[in-house]
Amino acid sequence: MSFQPTNLAGLDLRAEIDRLRKERNAVILAHYYQKPELQDLADFVGDSLELSKKAADTDAEVIAFCGVKFMAETAKILSPNKIVVLPDMDAGCSLEDSCPPDAFKAFRAAHPDHIALTYINCSTEVKALSDVIVTSSSAETILAQIPRDQPIIFGPDRHLGGYLNRKFDREMLLWPGVCIVHEAFSETELLKLKAQHPEASIAAHPECPPHIIDHADYVGSTSGILQYARTTNTQTLIVATEPHIIHQMQLALPDKTFIGAPGADGNCNCNVCPYMALNTMEKLYIALRDLEPRIEIEEGLRLAAKKSLDAMLTMASGTIGKGDLGGR
Ligand code: 13P
Ligand code: SF4
Repeated sequence: MSFQPTNLAGLDLRAEIDRLRKERNAVILAHYYQKPELQDLADFVGDSLELSKKAADTDAEVIAFCGVKFMAETAKILSPNKIVVLPDMDAGCSLEDSCPPDAFKAFRAAHPDHIALTYINCSTEVKALSDVIVTSSSAETILAQIPRDQPIIFGPDRHLGGYLNRKFDREMLLWPGVCIVHEAFSETELLKLKAQHPEASIAAHPECPPHIIDHADYVGSTSGILQYARTTNTQTLIVATEPHIIHQMQLALPDKTFIGAPGADGNCNCNVCPYMALNTMEKLYIALRDLEPRIEIEEGLRLAAKKSLDAMLTMASGTIGKGDLGGR
């Protein structure tokens, strides 16, 4: 169900959300790409792996997920007895859209000797067709545990898969999906920006294409980039990922300067994720008030998808918060 407009005039939304969170025994989880006001009221802000762990471990009865649909579905798969609400059910992901389950199933069938190592940015159906899920902060640790002679299909992000192939000298077969947000960074504009700030270092998410990664001083997940910002000696950081993460950087490091990497028009705002941006304070309030829109997953499908997520959580243990994809 999509957002239905309601007259919320005069409501103190922050106070109402706080009241409902207590009444509902709800936990509010937010991804780093959410609007600052949603990050600021969340009980926990994190990357995809950290949010999955929180969803699996929470005692709350309701999970209000400020993120995109595959993240809220992951929460439901791991915590089936909890109510999971997503403020806007249209908050999808271009990577998920690029990988229809039927086509993925056929691709697997054509490569029966391959296992499927699959990025968490995919549908529940694709998770059910996979062997092990990875996030950008757990991919390196998990890949290192798979024997080098084991053929692997990696989907749906060809840039993350290509980055892993190059870094670890693997030959995983890549599904041809991309993130429209990270695809939009411009190498020419990045180099112009770097020329204006020669002292700056560049941090990039591995969903970026190689022509951006090649200029990065650090490549890692959102939590990894945040950790890099904390530990690097450079005062100015050019950030090649969705720009809302800069909010957390500014909170943690008010004396440093963070600049979003530009798109083709030289502007840093074109890289806002249009799916993440669908969530708002108003929609979060309504989701907590009505406990809708709610994530529901058929039990057989949930159990099938849970296997590959459980494999990730087991194989990734110890990576939480380290930004393990770090470095070049
Ligand atoms: P991480 O937060 O796991 O790095 O993922 C980024 C992303 O694109 C989420 O959609
Ligand atoms: Fe999907 Fe890219 Fe948005 Fe992440 S930033 S949710 S990968 S479209």
